[in-house]
Amino acid sequence: AVPSVQLGDGVRIPQIGFGTFQIPPEDTQRAVEQALELGYRHIDTAAGYYNEAGVGAALRATGLERPEVFVTTKLRNVDQGADRAREAFEASRQALGIEVVDLYLIHWPVPSRGLYVETWETLVGLAEGGAARAVGVSNFLPEHLERLVAATGVAPAVNQIEVHPSFSQPGSREASLRRGIAVEAYSPLGQGGDLRDPVVAGIAGRLGLTPAQAVLAWHLRSGRIIIPKSTHPERMRENLESVRTASLLAPEDLDAVEALDRGPAGRIGGDPAIFAFPQTREDAAAR
Ligand code: A2P
Repeated sequence: AVPSVQLGDGVRIPQIGFGTFQIPPEDTQRAVEQALELGYRHIDTAAGYYNEAGVGAALRATGLERPEVFVTTKLRNVDQGADRAREAFEASRQALGIEVVDLYLIHWPVPSRGLYVETWETLVGLAEGGAARAVGVSNFLPEHLERLVAATGVAPAVNQIEVHPSFSQPGSREASLRRGIAVEAYSPLGQGGDLRDPVVAGIAGRLGLTPAQAVLAWHLRSGRIIIPKSTHPERMRENLESVRTASLLAPEDLDAVEALDRGPAGRIGGDPAIFAFPQTREDAAAR
């Protein structure tokens, strides 16, 4: 069974989830159904991916009881602010076809809009009302976490950030953990780029693992929640099996992967200090 991580508010989240970023809407139901059939019990989506309906269809098609699958979705940047956030949450619930969202995240801080504190208060209300089991943030830098906690006194359950060997963000990880905020790694394989690293390949070859399993082991052994994405069932399976092989890495192997961090040069995604994409359907289509 996949181990789970207990969030600050007592909710348990499976440590491996299936990520759906960049899975086209029309392919999502099939990919998520395959993931659920292989044993994934945690699906990560976002309103800004425009594939929530496919996730919902897969949940219904597989006939799993709702409490058996942990579902995360996220608030688009254009939907920040108290009223819009409440409406957007309802729209996500409808698209997914579920009553209770397990984890609802602010997708990006968008500091230039100055709305994330107000938005956070709205999410905290959703959790208090029971419509979301847990609420958190994504792409928050230490200064944004600091401001949220100072203004509201409520720490997010998780901070979902870009973490992979070539961009492992030790500062953001530490700032989150220090406040009891669980770290979720997105693009945990560096969108596939870190699989070609010779250090990763060396560890994998020596232990009889695939490069993906070596990288995922490094995450798991650090206690991180990970959401690797693949549209190929054999890779989905290989990634899920990393929970069983993670113990093979020696402390020196973990240190060697940790040392691959290249700082900002290794970043693949947006820079949270300036990223302000509205995340409309037109944006999604343009990418
Ligand atoms: P594909 O979807 O064609 O299988 P990340 O989760 O860091 O964003 O990485 C996702 C990328 O890595 C995708 O391009 C995916 O390709 C590829 N990928 C995912 N799992 C594996 C794996 N086990 N081996 C090789 N490539 C993988």
